[in-house]
Amino acid sequence: MNIRHVTVADTENCGRVIYKAFCGIADKHNFPHDFPSLDAALQMAQMSIANPDIDGFVAEDDGQFLGSNFLWRQNRIAGVGPITVDPDAQARGVGRRLMQVVIERGKDASGIRLVQDAFNTTSMSLYASLGFDVVEPLVIMQGTPAGEASSQKAEVRPLEEKDFDACAELCRKAHGFDRDNELKLIIKMSPTFIAVRENRVVAYASAPTFWQMNHAVAETTEDMQSLLSGAARLTGQPLAFLLPTRQAKLFRWCLSQGLRVVKPMTLMAMGEYREPRGCFLPSVLY
Ligand SMILES: CC(C)(COP(=O)(O)OP(=O)(O)OC[C@H]1O[C@@H](n2cnc3c(N)ncnc32)[C@H](O)[C@@H]1OP(=O)(O)O)[C@@H](O)C(=O)NCCC(=O)NCCS
Repeated sequence: MNIRHVTVADTENCGRVIYKAFCGIADKHNFPHDFPSLDAALQMAQMSIANPDIDGFVAEDDGQFLGSNFLWRQNRIAGVGPITVDPDAQARGVGRRLMQVVIERGKDASGIRLVQDAFNTTSMSLYASLGFDVVEPLVIMQGTPAGEASSQKAEVRPLEEKDFDACAELCRKAHGFDRDNELKLIIKMSPTFIAVRENRVVAYASAPTFWQMNHAVAETTEDMQSLLSGAARLTGQPLAFLLPTRQAKLFRWCLSQGLRVVKPMTLMAMGEYREPRGCFLPSVLY
């Protein structure tokens, strides 16, 4: 087996295997597909390969494409994914090699994180055996909040360039690092929102209708509720986001608002990790 850097010529193989592998694990457990179509997976591959801040690797055997893995290095903390191995080549050590190469590539980052399907016994065991700790149980929540957030409402509006510094500061307070570079990229692709209370930014969400790309931070649970309600109202679309279920008050609020749990997932971390302060929602990376 040979591991090498991904090239543009690998786009089709990467997209095909990403689609096939994710459909395979979802179908096995009767969960909805992460990628609604082959086209969506191809777009994901294309975007990851084109971005200079994302390092991609492929595994091949005698020219036969076996799988790929990506390391996102936009911030001080690196994120892994998607990693996929062709279902015909799984359980033969390919995934382990693809993980080892991104761990090696990410060794100058302060930490490396990822999010996995909690029902995927293979990926959870593989990552744990390589040194990733389980740090947070998650669920994908989906739906439109039925009512208004709370009595202590913050005003919600689209995020503008002038808000970047305040958002970075919020994120640093919550996590000890910011996701400024990522936010500046996402704002071009997805509706992003902030909540303002007492003339200051108290919450932001980078893509609250698209769980893969969304991350959010809020000073309080009430601020997060205001932000989510406002984002649903302003987009007119159902929300979809990853929720750490240990945030019990927010979890119960989501359920009371009629949101539904789609599937369980797990946040795993290697290297620097600080228990988050305030309220947060992770993206598919961390
Ligand atoms: C997850 C995935 C990338 C792993 O790749 P793979 O090539 O099948 O994995 P490997 O064979 O390299 O390693 C699997 C390891 O998990 C271990 N394992 C598998 N099931 C296990 C279980 N139930 N309990 C404990 N260990 C288990 C295997 O023994 C192996 O460890 P070993 O190297 O010490 O023998 C691949 O299965 C895949 O593409 N799945 C579908 C897409 C997906 O879920 N991607 C991950 C998104 S987070």
